[in-house]
Amino acid sequence: MVAKDTLSVTDNRTGKNYEIPIVGENIRAIDLRQIKVKPDDFGMMTYDPAYTNTASCESAVTFIDGDKGILEYRGYPIEQLAEKSTFLEVAYLLLKGDLPNDAQIDEFTHQVTTHTFVHENIKKFMEGFRYDAHPMGILLSTVGALSTFYPDAKDVHDERSREIQIYRLIAKMPTIAAFTYRHFVGLPYVYPDNGLSYVANFLQMIRKIALGKYSVDPILERALDVLFILHADHEQNCSTTAMRVVGSSHADPFSATAAAIAALYGPLHGGANEAVLKMLAEIGSKDSIPEYIRKVKDKNSGVKLMGFGHRVYKNYDPRAKVIKTLAHQVFSVTGKNPLIEIATELERIALEDDYFVERKLYPNVDFYSGLIYEALGFRKDFFTVLFAIPRTVGWLAQWQELITEPGQKIARPRQVFTGSPRRDYKTTNERVGQELKRMKV
Ligand code: ACO
Repeated sequence: MVAKDTLSVTDNRTGKNYEIPIVGENIRAIDLRQIKVKPDDFGMMTYDPAYTNTASCESAVTFIDGDKGILEYRGYPIEQLAEKSTFLEVAYLLLKGDLPNDAQIDEFTHQVTTHTFVHENIKKFMEGFRYDAHPMGILLSTVGALSTFYPDAKDVHDERSREIQIYRLIAKMPTIAAFTYRHFVGLPYVYPDNGLSYVANFLQMIRKIALGKYSVDPILERALDVLFILHADHEQNCSTTAMRVVGSSHADPFSATAAAIAALYGPLHGGANEAVLKMLAEIGSKDSIPEYIRKVKDKNSGVKLMGFGHRVYKNYDPRAKVIKTLAHQVFSVTGKNPLIEIATELERIALEDDYFVERKLYPNVDFYSGLIYEALGFRKDFFTVLFAIPRTVGWLAQWQELITEPGQKIARPRQVFTGSPRRDYKTTNERVGQELKRMKV
């Protein structure tokens, strides 16, 4: 009698049968290793480039059902958090597993607020970048450099040390982000004002020109806070995987976060919001949309509809729904971003087109967020920085989970080797007549 919670596998090369245990809904890839033709074979592996069907960890932080368009942080639906919570409360939830009571949020806010300043040498270091350096390049290098200022961060197995580094990273990220902004516009860096909210402090470091108190419109402050909530975590995406892979070698969290920022920088990930605005500007008018859609559908054009499609969501991204509504609230204060007309029409046409329907391509979080960022007065190349600030919380929650996991091991995938079989070294004379091989670029 075969146990019910197993998968029966027959290797037709050998005729052997195997019973692979099912754990939860899954099998463990390592259980396939016993499948061999000869006793000294390595054993069977799964081949899964880009991890399209491989769970690389167990996690209790964020749940996504991509087919149904569901996103939950620690069990709480994103729509409820966006409506009722605040970014720091959500940060606490992601990091500690539950929503805080009054005393807990006060302590958490106090900690985040008192770690906002950076060492003066960080400022000098940042001044060394070219005037037109991309803010994401500055951000990732500066966050990496923080590890040299906090050598105690290497103590990743000390709970108290981890906690301090987490506060430092969440608190300093807006400061460094704002400095990158001021660097480009050639204005003096503005120091944090710890009497303001997380978002208002960030905005004053960006906007403040003269001395005196900075005040922000509460609708805009709330809008950015909601955007931060929506971007705080998204389970095992590209940048979080980078954070976990680097963290698995027990590198300090500043180095691991720098790696995560680098992953986020790419246009297929966090860089997409910048790309969406460039695309909308290139389309220019509603009349040009059908022609653009034709280009997107032509595989030879290499053109994608930026802000559309997602590895996990095969339904409307729930964050995009919230952001679309938020956009109109922001425009009520800032005036309408004219590109919204093109974006809504583009979405309407795409969602009725067979190409997008068949492939289940819907707007993702980046489709509308850039329009809000632009209305708030941010430059396009700063958009991904605005994503990195809140996502730092998710990266840290996932890193903390990784480090405290019993039996945690260094990440080390396998490969399917496709190169040359063993061969003997040739002298340069023996290599005569060999074709010049160019590197693939
Ligand atoms: N425009 C046109 N076609 C698309 C798009 C798009 N935006 N996205 C996917 N497709 C097509 C693919 O060409 C493919 O077609 P095929 O089956 O005929 O070959 C099919 O849809 C499936 O797409 P994949 O590339 O297999 O999807 P994958 O999961 O690998 O990629 C990704 C997901 C990278 C997000 C992709 O949809 C994309 O490039 N989107 C545009 C960039 C973007 O908006 N990125 C932000 C994602 S959200 C975030 O990271 C925060």
